[in-house]
Amino acid sequence: MSFVVQPAAPARPNRCQLFGPGSNPGLFEKMAASAADVINIDLEDAVAPDDKIEARKNAIGAVNDIDWGNKTLSVRINGLDTPYWVRDVVDLMEQTNGRLDLIMIPKAGNASDIYAVDAMVSAIEQEKGRKKRLGLECIIETAAGLAHVEEIAAASPRLEAMSLGPADYAAFMGMQTTAIGGTQVNYAMIDEPQDGPRTRHIADPWHYPTVAIVAACRTHGVLPVEGPFGDYSDSDGYRQQALNAATLGMVGKWAIHPKQIALANEVFTPTEAAVANAKRIIAAMEEAVNSGAGAVTLDGKLIDLASIRQAEVIVRQAEMISD
Ligand code: COA
Ligand code: MG
Repeated sequence: MSFVVQPAAPARPNRCQLFGPGSNPGLFEKMAASAADVINIDLEDAVAPDDKIEARKNAIGAVNDIDWGNKTLSVRINGLDTPYWVRDVVDLMEQTNGRLDLIMIPKAGNASDIYAVDAMVSAIEQEKGRKKRLGLECIIETAAGLAHVEEIAAASPRLEAMSLGPADYAAFMGMQTTAIGGTQVNYAMIDEPQDGPRTRHIADPWHYPTVAIVAACRTHGVLPVEGPFGDYSDSDGYRQQALNAATLGMVGKWAIHPKQIALANEVFTPTEAAVANAKRIIAAMEEAVNSGAGAVTLDGKLIDLASIRQAEVIVRQAEMISD
């Protein structure tokens, strides 16, 4: 291990982040009553330009007036290339009570984007004597965001989570797709058998940004999160995308419709069988270490000290969710 130890990410459940436009206040109570761990009220791309000011007022009212229980409450502000974001931050900080947990910065392109919001939030926090430290989260959804993903992850101690935004990412990368995440049938490999028909194997265009985000987040103690899946009638597609993200180390996924919440919670909650197996590995390794062995066989497979670290990921995740 490097001499520098990776800091732990915030120990809070982030299996599902449910979004709703700030311009649709009729959704807020339903969002509060949902089973999502995180609520994101959107002021950005789900809000039409003419509705921006109204949506901001609605979001402020929702933070103050709705009982959000123990959910993590976040508002997605407008991008730093727009005229809206400064007033989004100032009004949210000045006109809400202490309930707001996070501000989400879309289209983060470099560490300075996070720095700018951090500086503004810090000044208002001091001026207003706000006791609770507001956290930040951001979206990697531009070419610049991906190119600078590590400096973004390291940009502020306030940064708690980082999501992959596949729709804007596809647009900014010049990808040939109009889907919001999910399977891209044109991205495939085709095999060359000696005889018989050729078979196409669909590949995963989200793999690289996912791994880049996970690595940057895990290096700097930030939660890596998989973004939206637009086709909310496709449960199988959503589940597969979430399983891919979970397998690669992400902790949760966005929902843009209530149908997707249970799917995310299911995928990002370790099963009882997985937890039981992880505990068996830890117990077997502890026994091995006590008897002087560094590697032993369990169920016909090698386990060693790395197996304890792998198993602990699953046990810790399950314990945090059940707390
Ligand atoms: N949160 C909570 N409840 C929601 C919801 C959400 N995001 N989206 C829909 N619902 C509710 C509806 O109000 C409806 O409730 P009802 O049964 O009490 O009438 C129910 O779920 C079924 O909704 P449905 O009719 O299938 O969808 P819709 O046509 O009302 O809305 C969308 C579809 C996509 C416009 C809507 O889900 C939405 O705005 N999603 C969020 C978009 C967003 O925030 N994007 C930004 C991040 S990518
Ligand atoms: Mg976007």
